[in-house]
Amino acid sequence: MQLDGKAIIVTGGGRGLGRAYSEALAREGAMIVAADIRDTADTVAAIESAGGTAIGLALDVADMASCQAMAERAIAEFGRIDALVNNAALYGDISGGRFDQLPEDQWDRVMTVNVKGIWQCCKACVPALREAGGGSIINISSLAATYGMAYAVDYATSKAAVIGLTRSLARELGRDWIRVNAVAPSAVLTEGTDEFMGEKRDKALQVIAASQSLQSNLETDDLTGTIVYLASDASKFVTGQTIMVDGGTVML
Ligand SMILES: NC(=O)c1ccc[n+]([C@@H]2O[C@H](COP(=O)([O-])OP(=O)(O)OC[C@H]3O[C@@H](n4cnc5c(N)ncnc54)[C@H](O)[C@@H]3O)[C@@H](O)[C@H]2O)c1
Repeated sequence: MQLDGKAIIVTGGGRGLGRAYSEALAREGAMIVAADIRDTADTVAAIESAGGTAIGLALDVADMASCQAMAERAIAEFGRIDALVNNAALYGDISGGRFDQLPEDQWDRVMTVNVKGIWQCCKACVPALREAGGGSIINISSLAATYGMAYAVDYATSKAAVIGLTRSLARELGRDWIRVNAVAPSAVLTEGTDEFMGEKRDKALQVIAASQSLQSNLETDDLTGTIVYLASDASKFVTGQTIMVDGGTVML
């Protein structure tokens, strides 16, 4: 298995894509820390019933002390941290709107959770990645960052910031052989997407699929291969990149 013996933290691992990443990484032999502001019991149960190893813990990425506690708990449990998947974000938990009508507190909260939250998780975990002799940080961006997204200017801006953060951190941490990459998915039908798109969901998914070269909406497991690849040594010389898993919509 590609990830045997590696300890990997997945933020936002309680549901949706974070849960799918956690399960896929565990199938490759990784020991998983599923951390979320929501309950993570279902993720842990699914991994354990498939014979894998996982713990779940409560995390608020907006709170540095909570990020620090997550890193400490991972080390206490597994002795090391080899990879960090920064997947937690305000997505399903926010609603869209015209750019001039978005509530100011929503704008601030989106930047805090989606951008500062990644910075804080990196600050908490990088010392352990260094200690392990290197590792992989995978930041979840979005097609919204590179294509733009009307009526979600706060969300799209935060996901574009994730790409800048990824490139700068890749340059800064290369000397420690810590690779930092971003993954930018097209729309996938998750609970989060259902909540985010609301009644416009079906129409929006149709339009998105039609703008892809591969004209079909992605399913959750269409993303997991890229996450496993970036966490593994198969991507040993890949850093600072944004991998679009978008069926060929934006071609970087
Ligand atoms: N589903 C899609 O179509 C799609 C497309 C592109 C990018 N993404 C990104 O993928 C990721 C997962 O999306 P999803 O579809 O599973 O939706 P989601 O809304 O269920 O995922 C967000 C996760 O982050 C958690 N979270 C929110 N605030 C948090 C906080 N302060 N601290 C810790 N955890 C927190 C939520 O509880 C949830 O589990 C998000 O980063 C999202 O922006 C999703």
